[in-house]
Amino acid sequence: MRYALIGCGRIAKNHVAAAVSNRLDAVGLCDVIPENAQRYQDQLDCPIYTDYRQMLAAERPDFVAIATESGKHAAIALDCIRAGVNVLIEKPVALSMADAQAIIDAARTAHVTVGVCHQNRFNKAVQKLRRAFEEGRFGRVYNISAVIRWNREEAYYRQAAWRGTWEQDGGCLMNQCIHNIDLLRWFGGEAASVFGVTNNFSHPYIQGEDFGTAIVRFTSGAAGTLEGTVNVYPRNLEETLTVFGERGTVKLGGHSVNTILEWSFADGKDSLADVQREFTENPPDIYGFGHTPLYADFVAAIAEKRQPYVTAEDGKNALEMVLAIYRSSKEQAETALPLENCGSLDFTGLFGPDAKKQADHFISKTSSIEPSAVIGRGTKIWHYSHVQAGAVIGENCVLGQNVNIGPGVTIGDGCKIQNNVSIYTGVTLEDHVFCGPSCVFTNDLTPRAEFPKGEQRRIQTLVKRGASIGANATIVCGVTIGAYALVGAGAVVTRDVPDYALVTGVPARVVGRVDQYGNICEKNG
Ligand SMILES: NC(=O)c1ccc[n+]([C@@H]2O[C@H](COP(=O)([O-])OP(=O)(O)OC[C@H]3O[C@@H](n4cnc5c(N)ncnc54)[C@H](O)[C@@H]3O)[C@@H](O)[C@H]2O)c1
Repeated sequence: MRYALIGCGRIAKNHVAAAVSNRLDAVGLCDVIPENAQRYQDQLDCPIYTDYRQMLAAERPDFVAIATESGKHAAIALDCIRAGVNVLIEKPVALSMADAQAIIDAARTAHVTVGVCHQNRFNKAVQKLRRAFEEGRFGRVYNISAVIRWNREEAYYRQAAWRGTWEQDGGCLMNQCIHNIDLLRWFGGEAASVFGVTNNFSHPYIQGEDFGTAIVRFTSGAAGTLEGTVNVYPRNLEETLTVFGERGTVKLGGHSVNTILEWSFADGKDSLADVQREFTENPPDIYGFGHTPLYADFVAAIAEKRQPYVTAEDGKNALEMVLAIYRSSKEQAETALPLENCGSLDFTGLFGPDAKKQADHFISKTSSIEPSAVIGRGTKIWHYSHVQAGAVIGENCVLGQNVNIGPGVTIGDGCKIQNNVSIYTGVTLEDHVFCGPSCVFTNDLTPRAEFPKGEQRRIQTLVKRGASIGANATIVCGVTIGAYALVGAGAVVTRDVPDYALVTGVPARVVGRVDQYGNICEKNG
């Protein structure tokens, strides 16, 4: 089988070893840095290319492996697939749901085989566990735990500029932990929802997370739990997978699920000592020995015109779980699966050097700002205020004491929001809006404590640029307050207010006009 490799960096050595073991007929090594490819020429005696399209055209390989940075997987895979070549893609299959689906669709159209390198599925210990699982030895599965406690320091990320970026990589869940996330999903099956929390504790120079944890509800009723980190001092500690069933408990461990730590089944067919002897591996690194059997299966899948052991759909499922954890953490809410229209770039600015939460704003210690809220440069937030999930506050705003900004609210630049004001979901303030002390917005015309309508169904209220709302005024939802309009203290606004209008009273009526600077230029009566 005519084989070629695109991307000859760190993980390429496992691909080259797998190609040699499987006696593939190497026809091309491709890297944009030719010296990287040359390192493997003594093992795979074949031409070197710097442009994979040229290599595809010149060599017509049957099987191409893609081991470039993750953000390039999809575009390269689509080119290979459209050229009629079978493709094995390093994990993650892609960085967005749309790209993963495009790969699946293109493969179906072109009738080519696509696989993904989740090689830990081939670890002897994992295979043994899988057989016990498929034989039904656990009975009902209650919960599955996946834990990755590794260490990646600055030197690792500095090796290549793509590492830890949203465009090319993602954080530790997308890069390091995705193997165990694949296993969690492989054993857990269909997932209904995910609640995740991610953070970047100690890697300020990367954009992605260095820690993530999640609870998964599988549609089977089983629960999944995940803990993934690259902050473990001072070195990799463990990668474990534990399955708890009504008639069995198995825990795999070691540095990358290569050993069996617990093996108890009610059927008593085998003991821990038996399985440990036969199914423990000691690989030289955390990548393990899995690439060689993965290649063997992929070659057989092409020959037999069947799906490989790890399909593009499997790759998409693991990606989906990572993205769902990211979204859940950002929105601080449980995320339902299936997930559509989500990709790593949606999380730009959450952590690291380009975090939108600018260091040059002021937030009093007594205030609470949810991690997914965005606070603009130069904005000041005074005591006991609360900015809820997903709210975006512009630059150079001032929020007084005891201000509440609801989930997802958007506030423009240069707004002044005085003490005790609540801006609820559904209310939008354009730039330079003034909200006097204790003014009130409503966001439901017929509220019922017993039958809440939910945040998504709030009635929208818009306050246009430069408008001012006086102290204690009430703005009933569904109105638009025009640009530079002035609402008098204590007024109750029940209808739209024209631009530059002065309104007072209960209900508020137009009683004059104001200019942009707040001068009253016309007053009726
Ligand atoms: N399965 C695993 O256990 C495992 C382990 C490590 C990395 N990976 C995955 O493998 C991929 C590569 O990781 P790495 O650590 O080897 O990265 P790396 O930076 O060491 O290597 C990437 C290589 O791709 C080359 N490249 C970039 N664009 C190219 C292009 N258009 N054509 C040809 N070559 C190109 C780069 O020059 C570089 O040599 C990543 O997606 C990563 O997630 C998987």
